[in-house]
Amino acid sequence: MKAILWTKYGSPDGLQLNEVEEPTPNDNEVLIKIHAATASRADTEFRRLKLPFLFSIPIRLYIGVIRPTRIKILGTEFAGEIVATGKEVTKYQTGDQVYGYTGLGMGTYAEYLCLPEEPSALASVMGKRPLNITYEEAAAVPFGGLEALHSLERVNIQPGDKVLIVGAGGSIGTYSVQLAKHYGAEVTGVDSTGKLDMLRSIGADHVTDYRREDYTKNGQKYDVIMDTIGGSPFAGSIRSLNENGTYLNVNPKMVHRLQMGWTSGGSNKKLLSWEAGYTTENLSKLKELIEAGAIKPVIDRTYPLEQIAEAHRYVETDQKKGNVVIVIK
Ligand SMILES: NC(=O)c1ccc[n+]([C@@H]2O[C@H](COP(=O)([O-])OP(=O)(O)OC[C@H]3O[C@@H](n4cnc5c(N)ncnc54)[C@H](OP(=O)(O)O)[C@@H]3O)[C@@H](O)[C@H]2O)c1
Repeated sequence: MKAILWTKYGSPDGLQLNEVEEPTPNDNEVLIKIHAATASRADTEFRRLKLPFLFSIPIRLYIGVIRPTRIKILGTEFAGEIVATGKEVTKYQTGDQVYGYTGLGMGTYAEYLCLPEEPSALASVMGKRPLNITYEEAAAVPFGGLEALHSLERVNIQPGDKVLIVGAGGSIGTYSVQLAKHYGAEVTGVDSTGKLDMLRSIGADHVTDYRREDYTKNGQKYDVIMDTIGGSPFAGSIRSLNENGTYLNVNPKMVHRLQMGWTSGGSNKKLLSWEAGYTTENLSKLKELIEAGAIKPVIDRTYPLEQIAEAHRYVETDQKKGNVVIVIK
C-alpha cells in the first residue's frame, strides 16, 4: 500500500511517500481503507518532537530515540470504510463507513489501517461516521470534536451563559464555539486576525484578536473560560470569571497544573484540567450532532496524500482555520 513514511524528526521533508506492506487485522481488529486523514497541529508537533520536555523523553523512547523506528507512519484522524474484520469483531462489518482517532498508535497517513473495535490503551477510538458529510469532512471531526464535546459536557453550560474560547479558530476551538452556541451560550472567540470572520460565520457572538487585545483587561466577566491551547493568562482569566464560573484548560502546561492546584483551595471558582474523553459513545454523540445540523467541521484546505509535506508546512504558517484534510485516493 501507499503510505507516508516518517523518516526523521524535524522538517516536513522527512515525510516520504513509499510502498509498504498492507497490515493484516488481528482477531479483535478491523482493516480500514482510509479515504481521508488530517494534518493536525499535533502531527506537526510530533514530527518535530516539539513537545514539553518531560513528555518528549517518554515519547522519544516510545517512537524511536534517534529517529522514528517503532512508529513509522504519522497521522491520528481518519475516515474510511471497513474492508475486513477479525474473527472476534462483533460491532462492525465489511462496508461500514467509520471515522476515528488513533491516538499514540498514529498511522493514518496510509491507504490502510488496522484498529481494535474497542477503544485501546493508546487512546484510539472509532465509530460509524456521520453520513450527511463527506469522508473528507468526517476525518476532521474526531480529535477536535471529542476534545470539545467532552470538555464542555463537564462544564454543563446553561442557556445565556457567557463563554469565552481561547484558540477558537483551531480544530478544538471551532467545535467548542459551535457546541457552546448549541447549548445556548453567548460565545466570545479569541484567536488571531485571519480567523475572526470564520469565527463569526460559525456563530461566535463576539471575537477578540489576541494579538491586539487582552480579553482579561476588557472589563467583561464570563461564566466559562475554555483555553484550548494552554496560552491564556492564568491570573487574569480567573479574575475575568463570574462568581461560580469555570476555568477549563484543555492543554495545561506544567506551570498551569501547579497554578490550578494552588488556586483552587478556598475559591468558589471551578478550575478544570484536561481529561480524556475518547469514547465510542462520544463519537456517536458527535455523529448525531452533525447529522442534526448542530455542528459542522470547518475545513480550510485539502491536500492529496502525496503533498503531505506541503500540508504540514501550511499548518505551520499558523494560518490554518479549523482543519487541514489529507485526501487518500
Ligand atoms: N490535534 C491533535 O491531535 C492534538 C493532540 C494532542 C494535543 N493537541 C494540542 O492541543 C492544542 C490545540 O489543538 P488544535 O488542534 O485545536 O490546534 P490548532 O488547530 O492549531 O488551533 C490553535 C488555535 O489557537 C490560536 N492561538 C495560538 N495562540 C493563541 C493565544 N495566545 N490566544 C488565542 N488563540 C491562540 C492559533 O492561532 P495562531 O496560530 O494564528 O496564533 C490557532 O488558531 C495544540 O497545542 C495541540 O498541540 C492537539
